[in-house]
Amino acid sequence: MKGLKEKIVVVTGGGGGIGAATCRRFAEDGAHVVVMDVNDEAAHAVADGIVADGGRATATVADLTDYDAAVAAVARIEKETGPIDVLVNGIGWDVFTPFLKSGPDFWTRIIDINLRGVLNITHPVLARMAERGAGRIVSIASDAARGGSSGESVYAACKAGIIAFSKTIAREHARQGITANVVCPGVTETAMLEKFMEAAGDKEKLRTAFTRAVPMGRLGQPDDLPGAILFFASDDAAFVTGQVLSVSGGLTMHG
Ligand SMILES: NC(=O)c1ccc[n+]([C@@H]2O[C@H](COP(=O)([O-])OP(=O)(O)OC[C@H]3O[C@@H](n4cnc5c(N)ncnc54)[C@H](O)[C@@H]3O)[C@@H](O)[C@H]2O)c1
Repeated sequence: MKGLKEKIVVVTGGGGGIGAATCRRFAEDGAHVVVMDVNDEAAHAVADGIVADGGRATATVADLTDYDAAVAAVARIEKETGPIDVLVNGIGWDVFTPFLKSGPDFWTRIIDINLRGVLNITHPVLARMAERGAGRIVSIASDAARGGSSGESVYAACKAGIIAFSKTIAREHARQGITANVVCPGVTETAMLEKFMEAAGDKEKLRTAFTRAVPMGRLGQPDDLPGAILFFASDDAAFVTGQVLSVSGGLTMHG
């Protein structure tokens, strides 16, 4: 993808399934990847793997539900590695729970990770991008935000919030050379999906139902996502902002 060589790219949730695949693809395109995750071991494993393959990567551990931790992580990265060119918001967490079986403590946890976690890191990164007049923000939402998803009411609300938030910062910063776009995975085979299906009960029945719902007849794999994410971060997308792209085998089809 054009224009990613030498760029400093921060991928939050970089230790997870989609995040790790995204980190590896950015590194293959010559970027310096900062793998950010609350999971120390996972973040270091991804960064070490990239370095072993001849790429450039470092790991940064931060719990992004904590604004001060996010601010400190951004300051650390900019001091030790350099100005952040690209931010990929990739953290996420969910447990299958029908809305009427959930309550305020669960909602707080879901909102803290899936929505506040994005606001907390985007705020200090965007402030620095605005000062420099350049930057790319790509946030991973979900097809759950576009079509609804049983058992994911509050998660879906957060992901819809990410879409509205991204469109708004895209407008606020369009004249400063900053773009903000969103990629929506469908059902993708990662640790998050495995835990989600376990909590729902009959895992294999659910896997079959999910697969049948996808027009292309298969579940997504982590490597299905980086192409769209790297496109939004690349020079080829210089005139693209405030857009939402589903990568889900046709699960949702929006005009
Ligand atoms: N897997 C799917 O079916 C699916 C579908 C739609 C959207 N998504 C979204 O894709 C993104 C990646 O998900 P995934 O499936 O690869 O999940 P994953 O569980 O493999 O990865 C998520 C990562 O986020 C990290 N994380 C969680 N809370 C954090 C916090 N407070 N601070 C920092 N890091 C934190 C986790 O440690 C983990 O490494 C998420 O935004 C998720 O909501 C996934």
